[in-house]
Amino acid sequence: MELIIVIKIADKTRSKTLDWHTRIHIIDGIARGLVYLHHDSRLRIIHRDLKTSNILLDNGMNPKISDFGLAKMFGRDQTEAKTKRVIGTYGYMSPEYAFDGCFSLKSDVFSFGVLVLEIVTGKRNRRFSDPQHDHNLLGHAWKLWMEERPLELVDNTLGDSYNITQVLRCINVALLCVQQRPDDRPNMGLVLLMLCGESKLPEPKQPGFFLERNLPSAGHESGTLGKQESSSLDESSITTLEPR
Ligand SMILES: *[C@@H]1O[C@H](CO)[C@@H](O)[C@H](O)[C@H]1NC(C)=O
Repeated sequence: MELIIVIKIADKTRSKTLDWHTRIHIIDGIARGLVYLHHDSRLRIIHRDLKTSNILLDNGMNPKISDFGLAKMFGRDQTEAKTKRVIGTYGYMSPEYAFDGCFSLKSDVFSFGVLVLEIVTGKRNRRFSDPQHDHNLLGHAWKLWMEERPLELVDNTLGDSYNITQVLRCINVALLCVQQRPDDRPNMGLVLLMLCGESKLPEPKQPGFFLERNLPSAGHESGTLGKQESSSLDESSITTLEPR
């Protein structure tokens, strides 16, 4: 079996970071994986815990979505469900899921948007900080987008070696995915079309959870949030090679 690399972005200790070509390849691959889970497989599968540490890369840097421990299957006509046990990872959970336990295909879309922003910026949504404001990465991205300075989001380890058209599309699509209202978010089929296409994209509305302090805290903390990321994984990421 090939080596599996867990993608970890924002690794300051690793000199060789993922180049833009690889990042766009990863984003595209994750989108295709989700289209399959959501729309092409016999049942609809909602992953519910999409995050960088659940994306594995093979030798060809092809992403594989892993860890289906929290996944839920929906029948063809079911679109959403509700749970009292909110389990997932802060920073990737959509507001309607974190607060009300409602999940749907659109909650995975939200997590996908977070993933894309993390891959483009090389920063994590959770614990993101900027001296000028107290927004998280989503809020920061939206702010720069509204101020027409979106390229400042790009991971600066990339220097100038990225494709501006693709970067702008990725950011625009990601911001559409993390919009507050699930109904405003595109489904994964449309996301893939938008990523690959050239048509003009809609302007995103305000993202959900753009302030770190909007996160629910007490109450969910003990036990119920079973899969909260451990702090070792949470800190600025590591790229690990895991033979298996
Ligand atoms: C940038 O990406 C766009 C869209 O994928 C493509 O049409 C264009 O040729 C690329 N530009 C360069 C310089 O690679």
